Amino acid sequence: MERVYDKLKKCYEDVRKKTDFQPDAAIVLGSGLGGFAEKIDVCTSIDYHEIEGFPVSTVQGHKGRFLFGTVGNVKVVAMQGRVHYYEGYPMSDVVLPIRLMGMLGAKSLILTNAAGGVNETFHPGDLMLIEDQISSFVPSPLVGQNIEELGVRFPDMSAIYDRNLIRTLEGVAKEFAIPVKKGVYIQFTGPAYESPAEVRMSRIFGADAVGMSTACEAVAARHMGMKVCGISCISNMASGVTKEPLSHEEVQKAADKAAPQFTTLLTQAILRMGKESLEEES
Ligand code: HPA
Repeated sequence: MERVYDKLKKCYEDVRKKTDFQPDAAIVLGSGLGGFAEKIDVCTSIDYHEIEGFPVSTVQGHKGRFLFGTVGNVKVVAMQGRVHYYEGYPMSDVVLPIRLMGMLGAKSLILTNAAGGVNETFHPGDLMLIEDQISSFVPSPLVGQNIEELGVRFPDMSAIYDRNLIRTLEGVAKEFAIPVKKGVYIQFTGPAYESPAEVRMSRIFGADAVGMSTACEAVAARHMGMKVCGISCISNMASGVTKEPLSHEEVQKAADKAAPQFTTLLTQAILRMGKESLEEES
């Protein structure tokens, strides 16, 4: 396991050779949600390929780069494209970018994704603020020797998604008349979409949205003490809710549709987070 930390440190050093940027917040842009990047006043971008050993996404529609810059007075690093466990990377590689952004200085993490609607009151194009998660169906990124430099062996997960960040997102949603749902995200490994029975099971377990990312990233981020929030774009109703078969194209189309509201929610929330944390300091 020490090798996991060695690899992380090497990636950190590679990034530090290119920039000394210290982000306040980190953002992971999910499928089709990369358009938010236009709201960042970018000062540096680093292609994942430029970082030796860094996991590179193989999924269509996912770019692979870090953008460093500012949104208002908030310094951010954004990931355009992430890797998924189903691509064959070990879980330690899947969460390496999250840990790296934490090491670069990010205190808060905003996770976004496209997800299937498990809650039958949801509709494609809805935005859901993640309140809690079920990660029990994917391997934990914390399995193996604990990396003491990052966090404790048995981290608390009683409030993975930060209540204050959720409140900030809700405040923006209200002010800009953006309808948002709240709910529980469940992660499966994929890459196949779920069967209708798996979706029924998820509903019984208390999930509202299903996807193939995010929960493992949130666990790694909480382990190292980052504040986490998450937004799911409901790109389709999960398997069996409607009679339509699922396709990756449908997922991307719905994300495109939700993109303008998603971008406003995210941009305004970051501006507000900056203001609130400055007020905290003064
Ligand atoms: N299931 C899992 N992952 C997803 C889905 C889904 O229905 N939609 C978008 N990502």
